[in-house]
Amino acid sequence: MYPRRVAARIELAGRVLEPGDKLGIVIASGNHDERVFDHPEHFDIHRAETGHIAFGGGPHFGLGTWVSRAAVAQIALPGLFGALPGLRLAEDHVPFEGWVFRGPLRLAAVWNT
Ligand code: HEM
Repeated sequence: MYPRRVAARIELAGRVLEPGDKLGIVIASGNHDERVFDHPEHFDIHRAETGHIAFGGGPHFGLGTWVSRAAVAQIALPGLFGALPGLRLAEDHVPFEGWVFRGPLRLAAVWNT
């Protein structure tokens, strides 16, 4: 959830927003927008649609996007899966919690020994 303050009068989704109005924008909801993504609740790493806003967008687009992608996809995940063969979730359901920072608070996993 990102805080924003309205700079100029605008109508958004049928509501008039006045300068100075305060907004809490839930970008995780945007990543589940059924107008943009087919089956938005389904995790599909091969998804054809682009346009997610996990790193924000517009003039505040995250400057750490590329270093984060490299750190996760080229270093952390290959290292983790290399060290723990057969690594997989131990439970079907992963509980997500949080408001400003949101994510799994517990992630039970098993691997082959
Ligand atoms: C997986 C990791 C990361 C995620 C998901 C992420 C996500 C985001 C998001 C959603 C925004 C937009 C915030 C807004 O609109 O108010 C943002 C902005 C920003 N991020 Fe990240 N970020 C990540 C890592 C990083 C790293 C590692 C750095 C720096 C090394 C970084 C630097 C920044 C900066 C400087 C901005 C502000 C850009 C601006 O306001 O003009 N981020 N990030």
